[in-house]
Amino acid sequence: MTQYFQVAKTGDIPSGERKRIELNGERISIFNIDGEFYAIYDQCPHKKTAPLIRGTLNGVGVKCPNHGYRFDLKTGECDRGERFNTRVYAIKIVEGNILIGPAKEDASTSSA
Ligand code: FES
Repeated sequence: MTQYFQVAKTGDIPSGERKRIELNGERISIFNIDGEFYAIYDQCPHKKTAPLIRGTLNGVGVKCPNHGYRFDLKTGECDRGERFNTRVYAIKIVEGNILIGPAKEDASTSSA
């Protein structure tokens, strides 16, 4: 059975805002875009240092604060090539709680 973990309240992250949480040793950034929540692995895969929590929103995506690579928040796809694709996580809202599930089947692993 798929496990989800309660990591925040929806009220913690108003529309247009973000919050970084830690789950099972992974830093994950949660974004609220027009009331929809998205969860992405926080560390940019380009240089493996920059935190995407400090990135700039770009549609349903976030641009890394360092070199501007863009990551789709639904799929984890990077606009600079699939070797930079990253993980996004299943997310659901239950009674005002944000729950994070497993990493989605994403492009960073599907081409292997
Ligand atoms: S470190 Fe993120 S784009 Fe270079």
